[in-house]
Amino acid sequence: MTRTATLTFGDQTIELPVIEGSEGELGVDISQLRAKTGLITLDPGFGNTGACRSAITYIDGDKGILRYRGIPIEQLAENSNFAETAWLLIYGKLPSQEQLDTFSERLRFHAPLHESFKHHFEGFPVDAPPMATLSAMINTLSCFHPESPEPDEAEFFEEAARLISKVRTIAAYSYRRSMGLPYIYPAPHLHYVANFLHMMFSNPYEQHVASPEVVKALNLILMLHADHEQNCSTSTVRVVGSSKANLFASCAAGVSALWGPLHGGANVAVLEMLESIHRGGISAEQALAQAKDKSSGFRLMGFGHRVYKNFDPRAVILKKAADEVLGSLGVKDPLLDVARRLEQIALEDPYFVERKLYPNVDFYSGIIMRAMGIPTNMFTVIFAIGRMPGWIAHWKEQYDDQAGRIARPRQIYTGNTETDYVAIGKR
Ligand SMILES: CC(C)(COP(=O)(O)OP(=O)(O)OC[C@H]1O[C@@H](n2cnc3c(N)ncnc32)[C@H](O)[C@@H]1OP(=O)(O)O)[C@@H](O)C(=O)NCCC(=O)NCCS
Repeated sequence: MTRTATLTFGDQTIELPVIEGSEGELGVDISQLRAKTGLITLDPGFGNTGACRSAITYIDGDKGILRYRGIPIEQLAENSNFAETAWLLIYGKLPSQEQLDTFSERLRFHAPLHESFKHHFEGFPVDAPPMATLSAMINTLSCFHPESPEPDEAEFFEEAARLISKVRTIAAYSYRRSMGLPYIYPAPHLHYVANFLHMMFSNPYEQHVASPEVVKALNLILMLHADHEQNCSTSTVRVVGSSKANLFASCAAGVSALWGPLHGGANVAVLEMLESIHRGGISAEQALAQAKDKSSGFRLMGFGHRVYKNFDPRAVILKKAADEVLGSLGVKDPLLDVARRLEQIALEDPYFVERKLYPNVDFYSGIIMRAMGIPTNMFTVIFAIGRMPGWIAHWKEQYDDQAGRIARPRQIYTGNTETDYVAIGKR
C-alpha cells in the first residue's frame, strides 16, 4: 500500500508520497513540493533531510548498529581487512578470491607516485598542514592521470584502485617531508597497511618492520572509518560529484570537508586535550570535574556522539585493539595513562552514565595512533585514507543513478529588497 503524508497550507492540501527504506525508516518525498505549492523546506544542517537513496551503509544510532552493505561492522572487524572492505563498499558485495587478488595487485601496482611528485612536495613548507597537502596532492593526481569525465567500469576500477593506493603514499611522503626525512618507495611485497607503515617509518639504511598487532590495529582503524553514510565529507563528495566533477576532484573536496575540527579533526582534539591536562598538571579526576561544570566551557573530547546514543560500535572494537596494541608495544606514555584513567572514572560517573556519554571512536583511535608513533597532525590524514573507499562508493552510486541531478539547494532570501545603486561620491 502506498503511504502518503498530507500537507495543508492555506486553502491548499497536498498528498506527499512516503518512501520506506529497507530497514523501515520513512521519508516524505517532497520533490514536487515547490512545483505544486510554491513552498520550499528549510532545514539548516540537513538534520531532517534525506539527500539521496543509498544502499551502502546503515546506521542505527540508538541501537549502536553500523553495517556496510548489510554486514555488521563487528563481523568485518573480526574477519576482513581494509582492501576487502573497500571492495565491499564500492562494489556492493564481498569479492571472490580472484577479484580480491586482482584488486590487491592493482593496489600494489598503483602505489608509487610519479617521480615529479617529489618537486610538488618540496614546493610546500615543511610545516604545511598535512590535510592541505593531501587535498592538493589528490587534485594533482588529476594532472598526472587525467580522468575520463564518463569512465566505463574498467576505467572506474583503475581510478578507484589508483586513488586508494596513492593516497597512502601521498600521506607517507607528506610526513617524511615534514620530518626532513628521505622519501621511502613502496615495497611491492607488503600488503596495504604494512606498506604504508614501511613508507612512514623505514629508512634507506634501516627497514621498519611493523608488528602484526600494529598492522591489525591500523587495518581496524581504516576499516572502521571506511564509511559513515551521509556525513559532512561524504555529502561534499556527492555534491561535487553531482556536477560530474571527476573522482579525484570530488574526493579532494571530501578531504577539505573532513579537515574541519567538527568532523575529522576530533581525534586530534582528544590528544590535544590529554596534552593540556598533562601539561597543566591537573589529574584526570580534576579534568572530569571540569567537564561536568557547564560554566567551564570544557568538554571531554572523545566522549559522546551525535548519532550513537548508547554506544559507538566502533569504539567497542577499538577499545579492545587499544589494549592489545599498547600491551604488545609496551608503550610507556603519561598521556596514555591520563586517557585510561579518564575513561575508567568517566564510565563510572553518574553524570556520564545518565547522559549516555561513552568514549567514541576518536578517543581510542587517537590513543592507538599515538602509541604507533603516528604524530597527532597526521590523525585526520589517516581518517581520510580510511574514508576513501566510502567516498568512492558514494561517488559511484551517484554517478550510476540515472535519475540523479546536480545538487542545487534553494534558500529563503533575507537580504535587501530592490535597492538603487548610489554613485560613490553620493554615499
Ligand atoms: C559529540 C557531541 C558533539 C554530541 O553532541 P550532542 O549529541 O548534541 O550532545 P549534547 O550536546 O546534546 O549533550 C547532551 C548532554 O551531555 C553533555 N555532554 C555531551 N558531551 C559531553 C562531553 N564530551 N563532556 C561533557 N559533557 C558532555 C552536554 O553538556 C549535555 O548536558 P545537559 O543535558 O546537562 O545539557 C558531544 O558529545 C561532544 O561535544 N563531544 C566531545 C567532542 C567529540 O568527541 N567529538 C567527536 C564525536 S565523534
